[in-house]
Amino acid sequence: MTGLYAHIPFCSVKCFYCDFAAYSGQSKLADRYLAALEAEALLHPAATPATLYVGGGTPSELTAPQISDLFARLRRAYPASRFVESTFEGNPESLDEEKLAVLAKEGVTRLSIGLQTADDALLPAIGRRHTAAEFSDMFKAARRAGIPALSVDLMFGLPGQTVASLRATLEFVLALAPEHVSLYGLQVEDRTLFAKRGVEEDSDLGREMFELSMRALAAAGLEQYEISNYAKPGHRSAHNINYWMRGEYVGLGCSAASFYGGRRRANEERIPKYLEAVEAGKPPLAENEEMKGREAIGEEAFLGLRLTEGFVPSDALKSAFAGEWAVLKARGLVEENGGRWRLTTDGIFLANDAFQEFVPPFDREEAPV
Ligand SMILES: C[S@@+](CC[C@H](N)C(=O)[O-])C[C@H]1O[C@@H](n2cnc3c(N)ncnc32)[C@H](O)[C@@H]1O
Ligand code: SF4
Repeated sequence: MTGLYAHIPFCSVKCFYCDFAAYSGQSKLADRYLAALEAEALLHPAATPATLYVGGGTPSELTAPQISDLFARLRRAYPASRFVESTFEGNPESLDEEKLAVLAKEGVTRLSIGLQTADDALLPAIGRRHTAAEFSDMFKAARRAGIPALSVDLMFGLPGQTVASLRATLEFVLALAPEHVSLYGLQVEDRTLFAKRGVEEDSDLGREMFELSMRALAAAGLEQYEISNYAKPGHRSAHNINYWMRGEYVGLGCSAASFYGGRRRANEERIPKYLEAVEAGKPPLAENEEMKGREAIGEEAFLGLRLTEGFVPSDALKSAFAGEWAVLKARGLVEENGGRWRLTTDGIFLANDAFQEFVPPFDREEAPV
């Protein structure tokens, strides 16, 4: 299966933790940017993607006519595609009833709304521009608009966030009965305001918050199908599962990644550089790398292990990483079950320790492949 991702890099403000290609005050470039997305699509080989994910940034920063224009352009670029799943990301401060009606009309099947925390004292302290009540109003408006499935983005481990605050956020969100929740532990990324302020991750508190969330979400019927993703039956994200299973995808827009023909590509991060390249008829690439050898084999593991059900390892993976697998198994972080490799419960909390065995730099000699 091929997936299609379109990156919309506009945001009302830059959140203090965010290192994505997401810029405030740039919406004036939106019309030009949408034209560039369509032009870029024609620079990729012809494809018939089965899933669409419009992410960001904040796609709901586009106006209602611009959202219609985006979908019209994607339909023109991929005329044979009938998306079985179409996801759009939005934030409470920029969604409204007119935009929600456009999304429903354009066949969006999943709307992912960013909340992070329902703690009104914490929201401005992480750079957010909305209150919990504004989120809840937009969530209910999205239901009334008839969008089939709603997802909520949450975070734990935020500076100043307590276990009680997280518990209240989970109760607040679960009362709205979303079909899907994405819950990320804070990662302090370079280049963010949090990094400049010296914010640190607290792994003990993080684990307590992660365990509490897993229990609360499971009790509400949301199954953890990936380290950071929970869904009611029938509502897992097909687009993202394809990514974790090393399916092919085309990414359009600044910073967007693509994977097809055995090559991983990543586009320019800055909007002006991206626009200049596409408008000159050139692929807007910052990276273009053939996946081969140990790196390509290891990728199968660090992507597949993200899925709680794990994956069936290839023979190449089993032989190239036999030593690493044995060490992780002895540490109790991974297990083999019915021919599948997966993380144990402990491994879910220490996933980054497990993943680093499968990504370069490898600390042993290149194995012949
Ligand atoms: C890039 S945002 C796009 C969606 C939308 N703009 C929003 O703010 O919800 C996707 C999600 O990634 C998560 N995220 C972003 N930066 C993160 C970080 N440094 N650590 C953990 N999660 C992060 C947040 O939950 C965010 O909602
Ligand atoms: S978290 Fe979302 S709203 Fe905040 S800067 Fe990143 S992409 Fe924009």
